[in-house]
Amino acid sequence: MSMGHCPEQRPGFEVTKDWNGADQVAIRSPRGASVRVSLQGGQVVSWRNDRGEELLFTSSKAIFKPLKAVRGGIPVCFPQFGNCGTLEQHGFARNKTWIVDDEAPPLSNGDNNNKASVDLLLKPSDDDLKCWPHCFELRLRVSLSMDGDLSLISRVRNVNGKPFSFSFAYHTYLSVSDISEVRIEGLETLDYLDNLSQRERFTEQGDAITFESEVDRVYVGSPGVIAVLDHEKKRTFIIRKEGLPDIVVWNPWEKKSKTMSDFGDDEYKQMLCVNAAAVERAITLKPGEEWTGKLELSAVPSTNCSDHLDHPGRL
Ligand code: BG6
Repeated sequence: MSMGHCPEQRPGFEVTKDWNGADQVAIRSPRGASVRVSLQGGQVVSWRNDRGEELLFTSSKAIFKPLKAVRGGIPVCFPQFGNCGTLEQHGFARNKTWIVDDEAPPLSNGDNNNKASVDLLLKPSDDDLKCWPHCFELRLRVSLSMDGDLSLISRVRNVNGKPFSFSFAYHTYLSVSDISEVRIEGLETLDYLDNLSQRERFTEQGDAITFESEVDRVYVGSPGVIAVLDHEKKRTFIIRKEGLPDIVVWNPWEKKSKTMSDFGDDEYKQMLCVNAAAVERAITLKPGEEWTGKLELSAVPSTNCSDHLDHPGRL
């Protein structure tokens, strides 16, 4: 796939308008997998496999308003994760209008080949600079491989005269058949900060993680690959990441779901957020420095997933 052309001129790409009239770029693989990303928030709003099955959750109650992240898909949290800071919850990037970046600098490590990609860019507005006075360029490359794997590569560049620090997350709403049939492998024995107990630190036990109540945790220093197994669907999501040491796991469960106006009362059963993130320790960039954070998602039949888990270094 040739790079460096406007998306609408490339085969397999389509630019449409989203619910608010913002541009949305769809990429389709030759085998039929697809991803759609909205310039509103730089948010991936759909990822489908080659059978056309949607792999990301979006709430049936999602609110489609300008400059408001939609409840679902993959909002980008930057420059703040959660409410630990002076900014709005999860930072402002998810609520801004991004642009397509036809002149994105190449990636340094061979990530430029064999994938259909679109590059997006967010720069701070005057209003953003008032609440977060740091000049940055945030780039997001969204790519789809021939096999339908989705990869997101973010780059944050400090174009400021002074250092700044930020946290970051790909707030990934996975679609699952039934949360009680889901488990996460790869986070066993790790320490986590529990957002339900004022971020107190605990250590996970040796078993895979399963769900029977509200969960809102930051697993720190997690491995580069973890797996989310959906027993009922016989589907496994393989999550590979680089530059993002933490994994946030969130399911609001019954009581909290009822307090969220853009989320159905029972929808907690069909979703699980597993977010590759840099939360525990902020990332600091000196003037001119750039940080890169990568996420790669694959959805494979559960019988094939051990191959992926055996090769954690593949990203
Ligand atoms: C999670 C946080 O990642 O996002 C939760 O850990 C939060 O604490 C959730 O409730 C949803 O956040 P928001 O701002 O999209 O409603």
